[in-house]
Amino acid sequence: MNSEEILSQVATEVSSCELCELRHSRKKAVPGEGPGNSEIMFIGEGPGFHENEQGRPFVGAAGKFLEELLIKIGLSREEVFITNVVKCRPPGNRDPKPEEVEICTNTYLDRQIQVINPKVIVTLGRFSMGLFRPNAKISNVHGQAIQVQGRLVVPMYHPAAALHQGSLRPVIEGDFVKLTGMIAEGNLRQMEQDEEPESADEPKQLSLF
Ligand code: URA
Repeated sequence: MNSEEILSQVATEVSSCELCELRHSRKKAVPGEGPGNSEIMFIGEGPGFHENEQGRPFVGAAGKFLEELLIKIGLSREEVFITNVVKCRPPGNRDPKPEEVEICTNTYLDRQIQVINPKVIVTLGRFSMGLFRPNAKISNVHGQAIQVQGRLVVPMYHPAAALHQGSLRPVIEGDFVKLTGMIAEGNLRQMEQDEEPESADEPKQLSLF
């Protein structure tokens, strides 16, 4: 199977997934979308109201802002892969539970990352950052790339956070501009390690790759 076929297989499985209780609250599961050879992958938290209606990621207000950010750095949403930590909408927009994150990422996100093999993963918000840097604080590490198994992982604020808190808007815009440099240079050594010890990350990082 080529990468598009594998992604399509994952999407089919996601759409009828019964592995956690989020199956009860979803209208449409949201596997994610984008080319199978995307150099950049964006990982949000989970589907919101509009995504749940349409079965597509980031199609509400946060998605509109994400598209604006992409356009500002010369990219369109069709060129990147966009997905979420959990593929089904948590009821009442509650936070996804650790066991839901665990099962969904182990079953679906890990496979998406493996097949797309992006150069850069941008995590949007604390849940997706937590997959790679469970001990980090987003206010300390946003916009700073770390290298994980040959690719850059760049934590960023969630676009919805910037919509709610106007002072974050220039921050996320600045982080996107930095992203251009990282991609253009293809500089995988452009790495700024967090100062805190991250040994506790290892099991999760291993399962992600
Ligand atoms: N917020 C997310 O984290 N993901 C979406 O798909 C939409 C909004």
